[in-house]
Amino acid sequence: MIGKKYVLYQKIKNIKESSADSLRSELQGLVTRDPSLLEDQILKDFLESSHLDVLNEIRQKTAFAIKDYNFDLEKLPQIMKGLREIKTEEEIELIRKAAFFSAVGQVEVMKAIHPGMSEREIQGIHEFVYRKYGAADQGYPSIVGAGGNACVLHYIENNKFELNNELVLMDLGAELSGYTADVTRTIPSTGTFTPDQRLLYEIVYASQEKGIQAAVIGNSFVDIYKASFDAIALGLIELGIIESRTEVKKYFPHGVSHHIGLDVHDPGNYGLLAADMIITVEPGIYIPEGSPCDPRWWNIGIRIEDDILITKKGPKNLSGFAPRKWDEIEKIIQQKSPLDDFNLPSAESLSK
Ligand code: GLY
Ligand code: MN
Ligand code: MN
Repeated sequence: MIGKKYVLYQKIKNIKESSADSLRSELQGLVTRDPSLLEDQILKDFLESSHLDVLNEIRQKTAFAIKDYNFDLEKLPQIMKGLREIKTEEEIELIRKAAFFSAVGQVEVMKAIHPGMSEREIQGIHEFVYRKYGAADQGYPSIVGAGGNACVLHYIENNKFELNNELVLMDLGAELSGYTADVTRTIPSTGTFTPDQRLLYEIVYASQEKGIQAAVIGNSFVDIYKASFDAIALGLIELGIIESRTEVKKYFPHGVSHHIGLDVHDPGNYGLLAADMIITVEPGIYIPEGSPCDPRWWNIGIRIEDDILITKKGPKNLSGFAPRKWDEIEKIIQQKSPLDDFNLPSAESLSK
């Protein structure tokens, strides 16, 4: 760091609120002679700051910039992980609500869905529902993928204009006061699973059930993964899609559980499960076109994801308002939606 800036940073780091104005005047004088000082964001922020909170933040930034802080950057993240993985009562309440709002969105989409809809329209319904509850935003980019798009992990384009007769994977989470839910359902746009879709769906469902059952105090994340993995291995081998367990990852390439909280993938030590942790359980099967199996399975992607509170009485599903069983999903899709009668004027009718 060049000398002039270092001296200024030192001064800012130790500045008292009562002397801040005079240091600002001094800095302003220096800037008049050397405007390049304003290219430094910390100095620029200091000049423009007046509120005490901002000043505190700038003091911290200078301390980092001159590596003059009295905490251990190795140990601090470890301590934070331990603190963040166990939720307080208030945090649990926020996530419980965020998960519920997200689950209600899934149910409303189930009622409204039809093959002529677009992925974007589906995304819009989810996001409208949780905003109607007062959630400020999405916790992470919404994923709505029909057919082959459901096989693309982290697909966020959501730009297929017609769902057609495909399965639709919807992974969305409301964010409430900074805390996010993370909920996925996969449903048939037609209202009915085809026999092949259903066979795969039931494997993912069984896998998630096993994973949730393993989400108990004292178990590890690996225990959840193994329980889910075994169910998918068994199912795929039974259907002849794979021959051995060594091939499972071809169609089930991701982990099953993570903490949620301020981040959708919240920090944690990922040791043993303890009361008041909130984690996802989210197995999936994805068979993109061209996979080395019978083409009848191609372009099917399925994930079921719920937010699970670990308690002394066992796992508690915070997103269970949205059904997960195939027949319950089909039943809800039959229900009327207020959006059935929601017609907008056609853009084609606009005069040129
Ligand atoms: N939506 C991100 C995840 O499921 O991990
Ligand atoms: Mn997740
Ligand atoms: Mn998710």
